Amino acid sequence: MKTVECVEFMQEALPELGLRWAGFRKVRGLVCKRLGKRFAELGLADLAAYRAYVALHPPEWHKLEEMCRIPISRFYRDRAVFASLERDVLPALAAEAVAQDRHELRCWSACCASGEEPYTLSILWHVRLAPALPGLTLRIVATDIDPAMLRRARIGCYLASSTKELPEDLMRAAFDRSGEQYCVRTALRTVDFLQQDIRESVPDGPFDLILCRNAVLTYFLLAEQQQVMKRVIARLEPGGALVIGLHETLPPSGAGLATWSNARAIYRAPSVAATWFSSAV
Ligand SMILES: C[S@@+](CC[C@H](N)C(=O)[O-])C[C@H]1O[C@@H](n2cnc3c(N)ncnc32)[C@H](O)[C@@H]1O
Repeated sequence: MKTVECVEFMQEALPELGLRWAGFRKVRGLVCKRLGKRFAELGLADLAAYRAYVALHPPEWHKLEEMCRIPISRFYRDRAVFASLERDVLPALAAEAVAQDRHELRCWSACCASGEEPYTLSILWHVRLAPALPGLTLRIVATDIDPAMLRRARIGCYLASSTKELPEDLMRAAFDRSGEQYCVRTALRTVDFLQQDIRESVPDGPFDLILCRNAVLTYFLLAEQQQVMKRVIARLEPGGALVIGLHETLPPSGAGLATWSNARAIYRAPSVAATWFSSAV
């Protein structure tokens, strides 16, 4: 299959799935490979035949959607973001929780792939932050649409390539080696994984911290981004933090959030006082 044909097909099909071509430009190779495999599996000669097949078999749209799920993730992805979470955001959220006499910080990792992102948070918390915050626990819920990714997440074992950005001390504290694999230590697996389509449901909140990176705001059409982000933001605790991908932009539904001091890609929901003030004027 020629790349140009595959790109043409994707440009036609993605909007039907609520997805946008711009997000897929860099990962088109992966989707084209899956498409090629799929039409061979169906005994079809080419993409034109596959296009006709999809038109006649509506359930195939579900297969197409599955082929457009991008599994890329890694531990400590975007180190500047995790450095800000460690230095500024989590300590501030913890102080707020303690001031409210709460014993738990709640976090949601949305579109979590195979668990690299929520486990990074858990590792950072347990190894670097929790010792100074006795009496406060971090509860992490992580969701993804894809059952295969979630199975891998629950197993919690990874190749070295997924962990290479983790600082040395975290690496040493967090994993047990098992052959070629690095497995997250049991004590650090404090993550609840749930299968959810973020277009249809979001976990019960509210959350002090939500990570919604490299999925909704990269791959979804703007109208879908708007709707989904409205529901995501509604799950934030007043004063809570939202983290998006470094190369992503919040749609207008995120207009009520302020940027978190100098941190890139981190936003803060208005505090209770600000919410009260704006509804009173
Ligand atoms: C590129 S990964 C992002 C992983 C992680 N957030 C990160 O930044 O490293 C995108 C993930 O979004 C998930 N995803 C795609 N569509 C989804 C949907 N409608 N609901 C929930 N998860 C979805 C995919 O299954 C995939 O695991």
